[in-house]
Amino acid sequence: MALKVSVLGSGSGTNFEAIASYFDSPEKRNIARIACVISDISGAYIMERARKRNIPSHLIPCDAFKTKLDPETEEKYVDTLKSYNTELVVLAGFMRVVKKGILYAFPDRVINIHPALLPSFKGLKSWQQAYDYGVKVTGCTVHFADEGIDTGPIIAQRVVGIEDADTAEAIHEKIQVEEHDVYPKVIEAIACGRVSVYGRKVRIKGGRL
Ligand code: GAR
Repeated sequence: MALKVSVLGSGSGTNFEAIASYFDSPEKRNIARIACVISDISGAYIMERARKRNIPSHLIPCDAFKTKLDPETEEKYVDTLKSYNTELVVLAGFMRVVKKGILYAFPDRVINIHPALLPSFKGLKSWQQAYDYGVKVTGCTVHFADEGIDTGPIIAQRVVGIEDADTAEAIHEKIQVEEHDVYPKVIEAIACGRVSVYGRKVRIKGGRL
């Protein structure tokens, strides 16, 4: 049976789109499917994308904090995720740190994508941080979420070269090309039981993604 994946996002939702279209193809449909989308931001384009694909979407705002969820709101997220029998929680541009509520409800089943090669450039606008620092390569990281900020065990990383002429936005565009390719493949590997975690080390049967 297809793994039930729910996507949390605060923004444009291009990663959601990449994941949804990957698992829309006939040969991938039985591997995973998106059960629902949840956003904390009213008017986030990810919600519109979900509607266009007839995927249920929920707005669960959080007024108490800017970058995390208060326990009460987190409980609403957990209830909604559980109401879809979610088996994997995918953070795709979700701009809040998830805490115990979601992590305990879905142990080792919450993943995040970050637009830098962790542990470099944690936090916000990592492509801008990479540009400002003057690094020659950056990339993206898919990792299991833990209680820290961008600190969980790393599942996959992709490298992007930075040219002298690149603007911060051009760097983000290159990073997103890699994000859209790697994130669905990570979900597929998890769905197929190919991903194991040993402390900080993540091993993937069949090789790196
Ligand atoms: C992505 O680049 C993702 O890596 C980043 O937000 C963007 C969302 O794009 N996430 C973070 O910065 C999390 N700290 P999308 O809404 O088009 O998928």
